[in-house]
Amino acid sequence: MSAIIEVKGLTKRYGRLTALNDLNLSIEQGSVYGFIGPNGAGKTTTMRILTTLLKPTSGEAWIAGYSILKEPRNVRRVIGYMPDFFGVYDDMKVWEYLDFFAACYDIPLMTRQSMIDDLLALVDLSHKKDAYVESLSRGMKQRLCLARTLAHDPEVLILDEPASGLDPRARIEIRELLRELKNMGKTIFFSSHILSEVADICDSIGIIEAGTLVAHGSLEAIKQQLRTHRIIQVRVLGDTTPVKEFLLRHELASLNGEANDDLPENVVRFDFVGDDVAMSQLLREMINHGIQVVSFTEESDDLEDVFMKLTKGVVH
Ligand SMILES: Nc1ncnc2c1ncn2[C@@H]1O[C@H](COP(=O)(O)OP(=O)(O)O)[C@@H](O)[C@H]1O
Ligand SMILES: [Mg+2]
Repeated sequence: MSAIIEVKGLTKRYGRLTALNDLNLSIEQGSVYGFIGPNGAGKTTTMRILTTLLKPTSGEAWIAGYSILKEPRNVRRVIGYMPDFFGVYDDMKVWEYLDFFAACYDIPLMTRQSMIDDLLALVDLSHKKDAYVESLSRGMKQRLCLARTLAHDPEVLILDEPASGLDPRARIEIRELLRELKNMGKTIFFSSHILSEVADICDSIGIIEAGTLVAHGSLEAIKQQLRTHRIIQVRVLGDTTPVKEFLLRHELASLNGEANDDLPENVVRFDFVGDDVAMSQLLREMINHGIQVVSFTEESDDLEDVFMKLTKGVVH
């Protein structure tokens, strides 16, 4: 197994509230894992436990083979953590900020200068080297914060909502940066409360709701899991009575009365329970039956539909 982050039965209780309930995760080295869930789902709690800042009530986790419970110092050395809250650093210039964190990681003075230049170039902030941190835009602050997590060249990045609160352009910049970091070989575990925002850069996704992981895998696999119930629209030449009669007799199809009311005259909409093979067979049977099919389409779930289906709006 090449899982670089391994989580087993992680549980965190705050008094009577179970913030995290028996979480299991396995994240492959070099992958980008999106940890998605609404506010209060338990994302930050998970990340604080993985970064050894918070003790779980029960369960274990390993990062690069190191136990978060037994080897926290080793864990800290292999991870870079970007918290969801950017601290205030009065009267500190951008380069001083990075220099401060590099010094915390015992990076020698001699190499710090060139390292800071490299980091600033990576996050596209070279032109702000001598600016004050508090004068930066929110997007720039996020990028600076990301640069800081890279100071000790960690293998694993744990980023808590790196794109939250940013305007669309700044979000795209963060996304590009994550891609670049992935290309550098980093494993990235990051959270977001918006699925569509992150889906295209993730190799894997976990969806968490009220402390419980409700789905995980590739986005395609997650969509597939939900696709037991599909909605199909078929358009035919002329009258729809023959199609309706055909569908009424088909065991995997069922006509959805009200949903057909607002459709054009020659379109029928129906529910289908079956996989792609069964669906293509249904279409073939329809045509063999002499039904003149003009188009046959599945109504696609967009990402937010997927998310809404999985997270039923349960909040603590
Ligand atoms: N220190 C704490 N004491 C009590 N409850 C907490 C504490 N930290 C978080 N919680 C609760 O745990 C749940 C999960 O929170 P959190 O991990 O911050 O969620 P997310 O990051 O997904 O928004 C929430 O219901 C939150 O109110
Ligand atoms: Mg959070």
